[in-house]
Amino acid sequence: MSTRVYDCLKAIGEKIIENKDFLTELDREIGDADHGVNMARGFQSVIEKVSQDDPDIGAALKKTGMTLLSTVGGASGPLYGTAYMEAAKVFADKQTVTAEDFKAALEAAIAGIQKRGKAEKGEKTMLDSLLPALDAYSEKIAAGGSIVDGLDAACAAAREGIEFTKTIAATKGRASYLGDRSIGHQDPGATSATMTLEVIRDFLKG
Ligand SMILES: Nc1ncnc2c1ncn2[C@@H]1O[C@H](COP(=O)(O)OP(=O)(O)O)[C@@H](O)[C@H]1O
Ligand SMILES: [Mg+2]
Repeated sequence: MSTRVYDCLKAIGEKIIENKDFLTELDREIGDADHGVNMARGFQSVIEKVSQDDPDIGAALKKTGMTLLSTVGGASGPLYGTAYMEAAKVFADKQTVTAEDFKAALEAAIAGIQKRGKAEKGEKTMLDSLLPALDAYSEKIAAGGSIVDGLDAACAAAREGIEFTKTIAATKGRASYLGDRSIGHQDPGATSATMTLEVIRDFLKG
C-alpha cells in the first residue's frame, strides 16, 4: 500500500497525543476530564497497529476504527470508532483518494456518528464542527474545487463550529448534565474533530 494513509493516520494520532492535556482540560470544564486521555490512548494504539503493510486505505481505516472502539472508551470511543469504520467502507480496496471519495467518506462517518449517538446539529457535540465542515466541503467541490480547496473550506467551517459550541448548552453527552452552565465552554469533541480535519488538510497540502 502507498504509505500515505499510514503517514496521515500517524499524523492525526500525533496531533491528538500532542493535544492530550488541552483536550482533557476542555473536558474538565464541562465533562469528566478524560477526552484527551481517552483519545491519546486510542491513537497511541492506532499508531502501533496500523502498518504500511495494510493492503488498502479501507483496511487501514477499518483497523483504526476497531482499535478506537476497543481502546478509547467513553462516548467518543464508539463514535470515532464508528466514524472510521464507516469511512473504511467507502475506501474498501482503494489506494487513492478522490475529492468525491473524501466527501462520501465524511458523509458516511457523520451518518455513523448520528446513528450511534442520535445527536443533531446544535447539541454541542463534535457534529457542530463536522456537519458544517461537510456542507462547506461539498459546496467547494461542487464548484470545481480540489480536495484541498474543499478541506480548507471544511476546516474554516469546523473552526466556526467550535466557536458556535461556546454559545450553546449541551443537550447530549455528559456536558448535558450541566445544562446552561455548559454555555461559554467549547466542546472537546468538536475540537478533536476539527484537529483531525486540519491534519488531513495539512497532510494533503504536503
Ligand atoms: N451523542 C453524541 N453525539 C455526538 N457526539 C457526542 C455525543 N455525546 C458526546 N459526544 C462528544 O463526545 C465528547 C466527549 O467525549 P469523551 O470525554 O471522550 O467521552 P465521555 O463524555 O463519555 O467522557 C463531547 O465533547 C462530544 O463532542
Ligand atoms: Mg469525558
